[in-house]
Amino acid sequence: MRAVDIIMNKRAGKELSREEIAFLINGYVAGEIPDYQVSAWAMAVFFQGMTAKETACLTDVMLKSGECIDLSGISGPFVDKHSTGGVGDKTSLILAPIAAALGLKDPMMSGRALGHTGGTLDKLEAIPGYRTNLSVDEFRTILIKDGFAMTGQTKEIVPADRLLYALRDVSGTVESIPLITASILSKKAAEGADALVLDVKFGSGAFMKDPSDGEKLARSLVDTGEAMGKKITALLTDMNEPLGNTMGNFLEVEECFDSLEGKGPADLMEVTLELAARMAVLGGKAKNAKEGRSLCEEILASGKPRQLFLDNINSQSGNAEQFLKLRGTFRSEYAADIKAAKTGYISGIDAWTIGHAGVTLGVGRNRKEDPVSPTAGIVFHKKGGDAVKTGDKIMTVWAKDEASLNAALPRIESAVGYSDNAPPPRTLILKEIVSK
Ligand code: URA
Repeated sequence: MRAVDIIMNKRAGKELSREEIAFLINGYVAGEIPDYQVSAWAMAVFFQGMTAKETACLTDVMLKSGECIDLSGISGPFVDKHSTGGVGDKTSLILAPIAAALGLKDPMMSGRALGHTGGTLDKLEAIPGYRTNLSVDEFRTILIKDGFAMTGQTKEIVPADRLLYALRDVSGTVESIPLITASILSKKAAEGADALVLDVKFGSGAFMKDPSDGEKLARSLVDTGEAMGKKITALLTDMNEPLGNTMGNFLEVEECFDSLEGKGPADLMEVTLELAARMAVLGGKAKNAKEGRSLCEEILASGKPRQLFLDNINSQSGNAEQFLKLRGTFRSEYAADIKAAKTGYISGIDAWTIGHAGVTLGVGRNRKEDPVSPTAGIVFHKKGGDAVKTGDKIMTVWAKDEASLNAALPRIESAVGYSDNAPPPRTLILKEIVSK
């Protein structure tokens, strides 16, 4: 077999066999097939798509490219959540300790910033010392102790996703339903979760721009996941505006901690609690989402998730005391404010523009080897629906250096829309997609 023939078959819209998919993916992981051929193949998949059979094969081949985490001997239920990616999308860091406090186990394998969207691993690593490259033994130990553990794809666990994810990030091949499905479900199968709640985003800041494409992605994820034996449900949620009041690695960790102290912004808490409620249902702690939500609200008010979050920082080689001291101060020195250009209302802050500006600020990457900045990002003092007067502070922006700040500012200003009248409220959660 030759990689070039597989690329050309996909380019011609043919269905690839399991052998062809395995040849390409395993060859890539073994270092025998170069980045440029796999990028070309990913681009062919982007344009031609994959059948459900090919998507299932790709997921399975990626899963089998490494070890699975052995959760035997640990009592479950193992329930996790994954998002298809957004801007300011930080719900994992709030709901994992909530789920753990409810008595669920959340074995969370996450990703890095992808395209214009943020990554849970990059956010967590903004906490000085925090490690996301856990060995399987460390992952197990922390899961038992804290009820949740957060790790990334490694050379041992789903190495195919580790490589492909980084390649797609910089080759314009992220927004593909089969590639997203295989990437998410290979990680989720390897981590050992029995049940999965998916946050499938649509809107300008999501990979799927319109709700109908979001729903197709949700259906692909739910059907493929179900065929793999997972209990699975998906919420289709709005990502036209950044979620919460921050975008940036350390800033978002801080906002999650504020949320665990009961000070989370309304939009962030709405999406987080609705996702957590479904985790409670799939984990057998609640009969329905309404009951699950009440349980999550009660446990949040108890302060237990807040303590588990701090415990987990220590467990993963960070320092909770130092984290608390850095809170509110760990910022880049290169900063500027964005002021309202008009009097009226903010009609919206465009998530896509903010996500791309975030890459320039240093929150995400342009090349796969680029480091990200822990202290770059944006605080939104105003969001869509807020009344403003000319000159009011709308955002504070921090960048990794001065040139990046100057390059990003005009773009950030252009993300703000104005209207004379209050815009209609957004519906954050459009629908739930369940297994058939
Ligand atoms: N999240 C993932 O893990 N993979 C994708 O491809 C997109 C979002």
